Amino acid sequence: MVIKRKFFIETYGCQMNFSDSEIVASILSDDGFESTVEISEADLILINTCSIRDNAEQRVLRRLKNLQSLKKKRPGLIIGILGCMAERLKEELLEKELVLDLVAGPDVYRDLPKLISRIGTGQKAINTLLSEEETYADITPVRYDSNGISAFISIMRGCENYCAYCVVPYVRGIERSREDASIIREATVLFENGYREITLLGQNVNSYSWVDKDNHTTGFAGLLDRVAGISPLLRIRFSTSHPKDISDDLLQTIARHPNICRSIHLPVQSGSSRILDKMNRGYTRGQYLERVAAIHRFVPDCAVSTDIIAGFCSETEDDHKETLSLMKAVGFDYAFMFMYSERPDTLAAEKYPDDVPVEDKERRLKEVIDLQQALSYQSNERNKGKVFEVLIEGFSKRSKEHFSGRNSQNKVVVFPKTENQPGDYLSVEIVNFTSATLIGKAIL
Ligand code: 5AD
Ligand code: SF4
Repeated sequence: MVIKRKFFIETYGCQMNFSDSEIVASILSDDGFESTVEISEADLILINTCSIRDNAEQRVLRRLKNLQSLKKKRPGLIIGILGCMAERLKEELLEKELVLDLVAGPDVYRDLPKLISRIGTGQKAINTLLSEEETYADITPVRYDSNGISAFISIMRGCENYCAYCVVPYVRGIERSREDASIIREATVLFENGYREITLLGQNVNSYSWVDKDNHTTGFAGLLDRVAGISPLLRIRFSTSHPKDISDDLLQTIARHPNICRSIHLPVQSGSSRILDKMNRGYTRGQYLERVAAIHRFVPDCAVSTDIIAGFCSETEDDHKETLSLMKAVGFDYAFMFMYSERPDTLAAEKYPDDVPVEDKERRLKEVIDLQQALSYQSNERNKGKVFEVLIEGFSKRSKEHFSGRNSQNKVVVFPKTENQPGDYLSVEIVNFTSATLIGKAIL
């Protein structure tokens, strides 16, 4: 019997990175590796990394330090860095982090088998080339950490928006869309294999565009329409939408398909038009509010979530208050909130001083978080007494007597278990709530 070499992947960062790790798992499995969830038995440890904020990078560097002892125990062990940090820091990582054998950027995962075999001969290996075409369209991801119900599908890679604060265009390269037919095929196979929810992923899905050989262009609304047509039992989500590109056409497509989830993630970043302009976001406060109004007009039961950065360069108390007032005006259902972290080589790092004192950043972030908590609570309170269709994903973390699932609006709903199975849809009436979870009972 051939003993297969084992790999272990640890993933940090966004959903795109988790999706990439599934592509890496597929490439390695085809090369004769086997995945393991036990880091201690791995021959190859890969860390898929994020560079979005300094603390994301610091976490990985600390992790590398504590992998040193594993390497001492197992001299043949290969340790590699993948993803955005690999792309940003390149050779510097190999020079500074002696525990590392391998550095591979997000567009070279097909090259991993070759890079790994080179390490077998005692060298270190690095490839951080960015590609203008790579979308991994033909690779079937290995869903090694899946609940069997929900899956991600990457529909595009890279970003060309150049928001002033953001490192992504530099570490993920230019924007490119994946062939439409390969996306439909992947979604169809997932549905046939029992999956009931897919999330279409891209840095800015609204600018998806595939031109086929007959010169026919498919945009995001067209793609969504076709994916939603696979089955009414397949739920579709997508992330992330850019406020400057979210079209009425897209909103009308969502409205037409009950299986496209009533939940849009629309990062606003700031409520001040002056700051938005400095961030190079391409919309004003008024234009953002107009798009939110359009969402409610076309899709009245749609939840809206967002990302907010506190303390961007030159942000004043008045700018900050505008963020708080915009949050209240929209009444976001959910938000991811961050303190501004200057990233080397970005437009902001080159042009603007990082001049908001850290105490102010911290306080403003706390005010943003406290307000969002109140808004999330109110949003859940509005759901009390309502009945939602919930897709059961599994048992609740706290109790095997409860199922956990989500409604179309992406809220977690926990309720006493029934005869049903994960993957089934059930009507659930909301009887109680916290700021994070809806608590319900099934209507049988
Ligand atoms: N500092 C803080 N937050 C950032 N984000 C992106 N870049 C930075 C940065 N330099 C946030 C944005 C983005 C989310 C993914 O991360 O809010 O939408
Ligand atoms: Fe994802 Fe951006 Fe972090 Fe890369 S830097 S992992 S693209 S969030």
